[in-house]
Amino acid sequence: MKAIIGGTGIDKDQRFSSKIERIVTKYGEAFYSVSDDIVFLPRHRPSHSVPPHMINYKANVQALADLGVEEVISIYAVGSITRRLSPGRFGLVRDFIDLAYSRENTFFDGSTRDVRHTPFVEPFDRLLGARFARNAVHAGSSLALDCVYITTNGPRLETPAEIMAYRSMGADVVGMTLGTEAALLKEAGIPNAAVAYSINWAAGLDAEGVSFLEDESVEKLVSTIMAIAVRTLSV
Ligand code: HPA
Repeated sequence: MKAIIGGTGIDKDQRFSSKIERIVTKYGEAFYSVSDDIVFLPRHRPSHSVPPHMINYKANVQALADLGVEEVISIYAVGSITRRLSPGRFGLVRDFIDLAYSRENTFFDGSTRDVRHTPFVEPFDRLLGARFARNAVHAGSSLALDCVYITTNGPRLETPAEIMAYRSMGADVVGMTLGTEAALLKEAGIPNAAVAYSINWAAGLDAEGVSFLEDESVEKLVSTIMAIAVRTLSV
């Protein structure tokens, strides 16, 4: 089984608006649907009802493990910090910085005797990412490569000073979910390729404040990414 984890704008995708299933894991419940033999898991729940800092990431990832998922493409809406990935474009994430706090972000939390320090030299599956990139190019899309994602806790957006600091730390894009989720997927041993799409310039980089892409443009972008992801996983 293969899976797509989606977020903002993706829970509306028609491909997966069909029957919603509920699964109860040892960390709590999660919701998903299956279409074209692919599991689709909306990380904020089907009606986008859970903010980033309140998501039960462990239940979401454990649900995929319990369903026997062997490969994941995870998709994230982000704000742009550098021109590597500007608003209206999408690309592959190569690495991340995790500044989120007070979240359940590990399966090795001391509740068992198993002390484990999972290596993160390569946070994402390179071959899966390459397959996604190839399919994107085949579909006529240009995509950004090698993006660095910084995870903030949210739910508030950043200050301009924070964004300047994150840029000097090496971040290209900012969001509130990837670090936690990617860490758990890696601990669970599920190969993961992360795709980010930008819906705004981050705080302080746009003279008009933070302004987001129109819904229609987001929907188009998301549907392009979804089609490429489905094709990539349909092998
Ligand atoms: N900051 C944090 N998360 C985001 C942003 C942003 O500017 N845009 C989309 N997700």
